[in-house]
Amino acid sequence: MQVGVRRVIRGVILCVAAAFVACVTGVMTGAVTNAAGQGQAAGGQAPQMAEQVFKDVQVLKGITVDEFMDTMGMFAAATTRDCTGCHAPEILSGSREAFAISTPLIQRARQMTVMTNTINRNFFGNQRRVTCYTCHSGVPFPHRTPNLSIQYGTPPEDNPDRLEFVVLPDRAKDVDAIFAKWIQEIGGAQAWAGVKSFTAAGTYAGWDTSHVEVPVDFFAQAPNQFTTMVHRKEGDNIFVFNGMNAWFAGVDAAAPNFTLNYTGGNLTGFRIDALLQVAPQTVQKAYAQWQVSEDLVGDEPVTVLQGTNKGETPVNLYFNDAGMLVRLVRWNDTAVGPVPTRFDFSDYRQVGAIRKPFQWVRAWTNNRVVYKLKDVRLNAPVDANRFQRPAPIALN
Ligand code: HEC
Ligand code: HEC
Repeated sequence: MQVGVRRVIRGVILCVAAAFVACVTGVMTGAVTNAAGQGQAAGGQAPQMAEQVFKDVQVLKGITVDEFMDTMGMFAAATTRDCTGCHAPEILSGSREAFAISTPLIQRARQMTVMTNTINRNFFGNQRRVTCYTCHSGVPFPHRTPNLSIQYGTPPEDNPDRLEFVVLPDRAKDVDAIFAKWIQEIGGAQAWAGVKSFTAAGTYAGWDTSHVEVPVDFFAQAPNQFTTMVHRKEGDNIFVFNGMNAWFAGVDAAAPNFTLNYTGGNLTGFRIDALLQVAPQTVQKAYAQWQVSEDLVGDEPVTVLQGTNKGETPVNLYFNDAGMLVRLVRWNDTAVGPVPTRFDFSDYRQVGAIRKPFQWVRAWTNNRVVYKLKDVRLNAPVDANRFQRPAPIALN
């Protein structure tokens, strides 16, 4: 009963959060071009820093815009407040300046950020071990007293998105077999090696569309390029990974006339997403190390493989008893701790010689969306322009 109520409240809050992400469209004008214009890095553009793009950044300095927005996601998820939970109500009317308006809760959250950093510096060797979530765990006011119902009741559900990973050393020998079985189930390495590209149409539904399905187009090119174009009523949202850089341009951009450069765990996340779409047979060797654990997805027992590369946040792949990939969880490190992105894959169908999931649910701190594929075409020519940095997109 209580859990049900909590879920409903959470849903409403997330819903509002997504609406607000859409509202961020409109924050800032001039500074953006300054930030974006600063130095072209080889193969792409230097990522924009938050204090160059936003108006009143006092504590979250020295981080990129995508990390800054994920930090807002951590704030919202940890305290279960939507964006208006801290920001001035004027953000709802699309005011560009409104996110910079100071409120008592913004001041408090700044103090909390300084406090959290101080705790980590003084007591955890400067590792981000204590995060907003450690104390708040999804409540605005952290509890002071123990909960006897929990002590003597059913243990609360485990957090499926936690970064902590229980390594089962005796299962390390199984890694090759787990990958081999999965690749076999989806058509085999040889069949996948013959997939040079795919295009697909489909639908997208999330908090930002009030769960109404809108059209989406996918373009992928082996070995690792993948573009998603969501056609919202208000305009397009375009996600591009060109094998090296990941970008977002669209009506939900963090600022108007703005193309976002993804960094850190978001960037490496786009890489694994692309590999899964167009070259899953290369996933195993894309990570230096794999470790094995066991878990549940719903009630279904799964084997979990955690892939790591030096200097990157890990990726977890969840395989069911049939050997199919049913879940992926990856993380982005923010200024106040890691935030998860989770994919749940389902509806595997045969396309030519391979099998692909025709549905996946992508959940992260700013939204939860359902993608469904319709017309999947293998090896149709894909215009190279599809994988270039997308131009900013204005609201219709
Ligand atoms: C727990 C409170 C809290 C919540 C919830 C929150 N924010 Fe913030 N937000 C802040 C604080 C604090 C700052 C200022 C950070 C600083 O000074 O370094 C800020 C700054 C911003 C800025 C920069 C404004 C400027 O121009 O200086 C944007 C944009 C922003 N938030 C967007 C969002 C969005 C979108 C959401 C909802 C997903 C959100 N925030 C949720 C506390 C919050
Ligand atoms: C060490 C534990 C701890 C950590 C870490 C922590 N908080 Fe808090 N937070 C608290 C406590 C305790 C309160 C006060 C609750 C009360 O007044 O009952 C609080 C209050 C707040 C409030 C004000 C609530 C209100 O309505 O007055 C905000 C906003 C907040 N925290 C945001 C954050 C954010 C954002 C982070 C991460 C940067 C964070 N907190 C990290 C313990 C923590």
